[in-house]
Amino acid sequence: MIGINNINLSSVGKTSLVVSMFRTLISNKHVKNILLKVEDGAEPNSSNLEQIQSYLPFYTLNPYISDIPNEITIFDPKECQAILWESLDLVYFLAPDLFKSKNFVNLLQKHWSEYDRSKTNVDEVRQYIKNCPPLKAWSLVAIENISARIALRTMLIDDLIQSSIVGQFKQVVILGSGLDSRLLRMPLGPDVVGYEVDLPEIIELKKKLLPLITKECPPTSKSTNHYIGADLKGDSWIELLKSAGSSDFDSTKPTLWIMEGLLMYLSEDETNNLISNCSHLSSSGSTMVIQIIGHVDGEKDPQFRKLVKTLLHEDVRFDFKKAAGSYLKDNSFISNVQVYNDNDIFFKYTGLNDPKLDDGWSQFAIGYKP
Ligand SMILES: C[S@@+](CC[C@H](N)C(=O)[O-])C[C@H]1O[C@@H](n2cnc3c(N)ncnc32)[C@H](O)[C@@H]1O
Repeated sequence: MIGINNINLSSVGKTSLVVSMFRTLISNKHVKNILLKVEDGAEPNSSNLEQIQSYLPFYTLNPYISDIPNEITIFDPKECQAILWESLDLVYFLAPDLFKSKNFVNLLQKHWSEYDRSKTNVDEVRQYIKNCPPLKAWSLVAIENISARIALRTMLIDDLIQSSIVGQFKQVVILGSGLDSRLLRMPLGPDVVGYEVDLPEIIELKKKLLPLITKECPPTSKSTNHYIGADLKGDSWIELLKSAGSSDFDSTKPTLWIMEGLLMYLSEDETNNLISNCSHLSSSGSTMVIQIIGHVDGEKDPQFRKLVKTLLHEDVRFDFKKAAGSYLKDNSFISNVQVYNDNDIFFKYTGLNDPKLDDGWSQFAIGYKP
């Protein structure tokens, strides 16, 4: 334990913990699926059982995770362990004001099981959540659809990394990486060099957590990874990237750039500047994946806005001026540009449409530089 609650994180920095907590729920559902198969008498897949061993001490039966489709779960024990070891009071740490509003409590309760819903008084709800184990506490505040949306985006980017890296990339840069443990959990070879850039406070936290986690749960990846603390709003990160360690970033090699859950914290100008900088650092054959919050205004999605405001005490922006694909096309990533919304990804993995996810809340674009 390093005492995450004593670390002074800005509200933007805290968002990485929120996303990690969602991925912890997604992993929990993955574990549940495997255990259920075993209970059903289906042939247990021994490698799956082995995979989940390190997570079992954290597993909680029946937390509220019903909106994560069975087909779209991932297993991320490293990120989960970091967050669960450290998170006995994490819900409170992230959201001290979470329970002040009666309306918000009502909103939460709409999603709860009959049993949980019997608590109606704000103080009672607050106490109840505080006394729950962390995974259960988070499952209670995870507003429906957000965990599913995070599951979808995680799965899409994981698949992209796996298929791209195996094929062509030896260099991957994750901007605004937060506590994401992709560069540890994906099966990357020793010839891959990974770079993560996030605010110094998050990189410092990550560097403290990594030795603890990897001791319990060794990385699958064999890549060489560099962790760079920098503000992506300016240009200072570029020099730090270029001089990060012995295997310096090489702009003559194709790079895979990933910006997941980041650009909503930058202004329109900062976003354009960042993507343009990445383009200048990219040789032919480089790929970029971005995720932005789509054409959704607060009126259309008041629940999400309210959650963000309550958790972060500030708003993310919903006013991207262009569709996701245009940010890439305007910056030389013009080949084979693919655009997805949440429902497109849902369809990709389940063969089904979910009208609730077809609202343009999140937009992904993937494009290649010829
Ligand atoms: C919602 S989290 C997403 C983290 C990660 N990409 C994931 O999906 O798990 C947003 C991340 O962007 C980082 N971030 C926001 N503004 C930033 C900035 N100006 N410079 C560097 N990182 C920033 C935050 O610190 C946080 O880790």
